[in-house]
Amino acid sequence: MFTPLVALLAILPAFVNAQSPVWGQCGGQGWTGATTCASGSVCTVSNPYYSQCLPSTGNGGGGGGGGGTTTSSTVSQPGQPTSTSSSPTTSSTPAAGNPFAGHNIYLTPFYAAEVAAAAANISDATTKAKALSVAKIPTFTWFDTVSKVPDLGTYLADASAQGKSSGTPMIVQIVVYDLPDRDCAALASNGEFSIANNGQANYFNYIDQLVAQIKKFPDVRVIAVIEPDSLANLVTNLNVQKCSNAQTTYLACVTYALQQLNKLGNVYSYLDAGHAGWLGWPANLTPAAQLFASLFKSAGSPNMVRGLATNVANYNALSASSPDPITQGNSNYDEIHYINALAPALQSSGFPAHFIVDQGRSGVQNIRQQWGDWCNVKGSGFGTRPTTNTGSSLIDSIVWVKPGGECDGTSNSSSPRYDSHCGLSDADQPAPEAGTWFQEFFVTLVTKANPPL
Ligand code: GLC
Repeated sequence: MFTPLVALLAILPAFVNAQSPVWGQCGGQGWTGATTCASGSVCTVSNPYYSQCLPSTGNGGGGGGGGGTTTSSTVSQPGQPTSTSSSPTTSSTPAAGNPFAGHNIYLTPFYAAEVAAAAANISDATTKAKALSVAKIPTFTWFDTVSKVPDLGTYLADASAQGKSSGTPMIVQIVVYDLPDRDCAALASNGEFSIANNGQANYFNYIDQLVAQIKKFPDVRVIAVIEPDSLANLVTNLNVQKCSNAQTTYLACVTYALQQLNKLGNVYSYLDAGHAGWLGWPANLTPAAQLFASLFKSAGSPNMVRGLATNVANYNALSASSPDPITQGNSNYDEIHYINALAPALQSSGFPAHFIVDQGRSGVQNIRQQWGDWCNVKGSGFGTRPTTNTGSSLIDSIVWVKPGGECDGTSNSSSPRYDSHCGLSDADQPAPEAGTWFQEFFVTLVTKANPPL
């Protein structure tokens, strides 16, 4: 009896003292480390794999989805007058013309709160001020779990009110991202639904819930990026069993999403189309165009499908001053070359060839060892700001889709979602779970922003 007590007393202090730092891990499947957080932070469940110590002061950071500022930002559109009506008109117009024109873009309070919490933890005054300015740049909100969908109702209500008070209608930018067997060729962003366990029905319900929120606010325009990586995986990764197994379900789910969103009349959809280093290889262009076109046709050619989103969460330049050596062998070495090469194939097959291009983390080029490296690329900087002044009539807007500072994937090799790309030497480490806040990476994005913040 005596011996075990001594042993217990001996190990007790270790438990008492073990605390995770701010933004450190504090729980999740298989986690054996500390479950309490450094003072000033609170252990918050991000997903079943990961709980993170989030700052408890200020706006609280991610996880809750609340707080923060709710102002808006205008994206310039040369030659396009902004609305002059005193109250915003309905956005239920056919998908003709640039949907970004004449609207202000809603700033998501979720990201604003993440940025505010991050800035509060930066001591250098100049860097702190730069960091805070990021909250005023519109980024997309990812609906990566069904539990987040009610937040969309809050954002739309907020955006509707802002539109009414300013007289200029608002856009809310979302990413639809909850396919069953998600991220089929990688591990880092595997999702909550599985095909084997009612995944398709769960996904349809997820879409129905998004639709129910959007329906309440016909005066707000929604720009939706549909399912990053999904169709690109069906073009090039059918040799991966999880992808070939998911093919039919992905197609059924994306078709359902397009059709249901289309009925609303105020949602403009852009299907995700990978990036120059993926579908931009000459051999992939025609198969990609064929897949987009056939899916579009079989969905009934929905008129609110506006085109494709490229470079989502990737690091390519829209227009590189010279080809990065890692792109050797592909004449489509940046997004503009990719888009210009893909557009004719889309047009000839009846798909609307309009684009938006993510440049959120593309500020610094020539930092990857291989073009296929996608995970928390070390030395990245924030890129060109969102603008409709794109230099190409094919491109509706430069956008920031991936919220800079949210992680691409964990570098913890014992995590069920560890993907080896996140352990490469050009991947910033240690990195937390995908979608959670990566403070050190964010600070680098801020300091290396190009153009500077
Ligand atoms: C990754 C994560 C997802 C997150 C998104 C945006 O794909 O898996 O959870 O929402 O990035 O940061």
